[in-house]
Amino acid sequence: MKKNRIQIFDTTLRDGEQVPGCKLNTKEKVRIAKKLEVLGVDVIEAGFPTSSPGDYKSVQEICKSISQTVVCALSRAIEKDIEMAGLALKYAKRPRIHTGIGTSNCHIRYKFNSTPEKIIEQAVYAVKYAKKYVEDVEFYAEDAGRTENEFLAKVCENVIKHGATVINIPDTTGYCLPEEYGSKIHFLKENVKGIHKIILSTHCHNDLGLATANSLAGIINGAEQVECTINGIGERAGNTSLEEIVMIIKQNSHLNLFTNINTKLISSTSYLVSECTGMKVQANKAIVGINAFSHSSGIHQDGIIKKRETYESINPEDVGINQSSIVLTARSGRAALAYRYKKLGYFLNKNSLDLIYSIFLKYADKKKEITDMELKIILKKANLNGKNNKILHTNTNSSSRRINVV
Ligand code: KIV
Ligand code: ZN
Repeated sequence: MKKNRIQIFDTTLRDGEQVPGCKLNTKEKVRIAKKLEVLGVDVIEAGFPTSSPGDYKSVQEICKSISQTVVCALSRAIEKDIEMAGLALKYAKRPRIHTGIGTSNCHIRYKFNSTPEKIIEQAVYAVKYAKKYVEDVEFYAEDAGRTENEFLAKVCENVIKHGATVINIPDTTGYCLPEEYGSKIHFLKENVKGIHKIILSTHCHNDLGLATANSLAGIINGAEQVECTINGIGERAGNTSLEEIVMIIKQNSHLNLFTNINTKLISSTSYLVSECTGMKVQANKAIVGINAFSHSSGIHQDGIIKKRETYESINPEDVGINQSSIVLTARSGRAALAYRYKKLGYFLNKNSLDLIYSIFLKYADKKKEITDMELKIILKKANLNGKNNKILHTNTNSSSRRINVV
């Protein structure tokens, strides 16, 4: 059965950069954009040009340095915004304007003091206006997560009629449950005339920790594009994280989906974004957290050393990490200790391991984690002890040191 491609729309430089405390200068943005292109994303949302001269300039510079990937700029459904987006995209080889308006009752009534009819009019006008600048126009129905499906379908049908090439269905407040978001996409696929001519996109926020689950429900129900960010950064609790959705697709071949992402570059891209934005990745973050492939309990370490798959469903090499790490703590067992000594070139037989393990536990109870340097100190300590001297004998061969009990 033929696999369907899911397009990856990266909004790290726009929604991601909206995070408090995360400010990127033009140079950093260009550096990240270049990395995203090599990573294989289909679309880079480079910024919101009307928001500041700096953002305008960043979008322009990104356009100049990106050769293959679609570069997209955000705008509200306002002439001035669309104009700025169109101008900022002037140097893009493949430009896209992303324009839109709130469609939920809450937005229509309180944000715009408007009516559903006027919102459709403004949406259509914005798409037509954006078409003067670029052929590729993506329309977002802000707060689609809380928009009634029938009205949302009407909005979509109208903007498709006037040239929208992509329609984005944002769950702006992270409100939907996966089943609900999935059936919204399904409803649109079934009920909007012309929907098969355009790309339907998910854009999910993580307020309830459901952004990735909702995006997954969206693509299972027929959406062809996922909007996401590196490390899941974005407004409030963030956006769907690129690394999660991409690896879910890769790990689950029965979904019959694929992306163009070179997953081996995920880890280095995550590191670059974290370094430039100053946004630390939480240690237990799926795929890219420092603990994602670390094992510290004795039972797990023993299993991993015997066969990696016992406690890992993802191969760390697939995301650009050389190997899983065995972290030595007071919960670690002999297998892990022997393994780490072996990595340092020391082969311990049973008696020497027992001896060193007892010294190790005393150290480990006082510390969070035992380093290679401390392992060497422990080894020395075992040797220095008069009693141990009698039972420890060190052999040196060409590649490693052997410690045997004699
Ligand atoms: O979350 C949202 O609704 C957005 C739109 C501006 C696309 O970011
Ligand atoms: Zn958003």
